Amino acid sequence: MTTIIVCDTCNYSLLEKTHNDKTGGEILAEHVERIAADAGVEVRRQSCLMGCERHCNVAIQGAGKLTYVLGKFDPEADSAEAIVEYAQRHAESETGQVPFKQWPQGVKGHFVARIPSLG
Ligand code: FES
Repeated sequence: MTTIIVCDTCNYSLLEKTHNDKTGGEILAEHVERIAADAGVEVRRQSCLMGCERHCNVAIQGAGKLTYVLGKFDPEADSAEAIVEYAQRHAESETGQVPFKQWPQGVKGHFVARIPSLG
């Protein structure tokens, strides 16, 4: 099972922490949770992934697989669709490494880190 961890405290924009009383991270998390509901991936929220200056941030993890941290997302449905689609490809892969040709357009340029699995 692949899990998308969404930072729910990320800023809404460079100048605004919140929009309509929600952080950018909360707004992105709501989009991701809605889209992922039928996609076979789990979603969790985490307050701060320590990438605050490149909000909004997510991490994609699965047991025994590479973890990927992605950032610089706008808190919008388009971002969430790309994140969920990428997580589905991560879930289908053996190691967590998704071939570049399978990357959704919306994740390109958003990768921050790749972290090896312990297992
Ligand atoms: S507040 Fe989102 S990474 Fe720190």
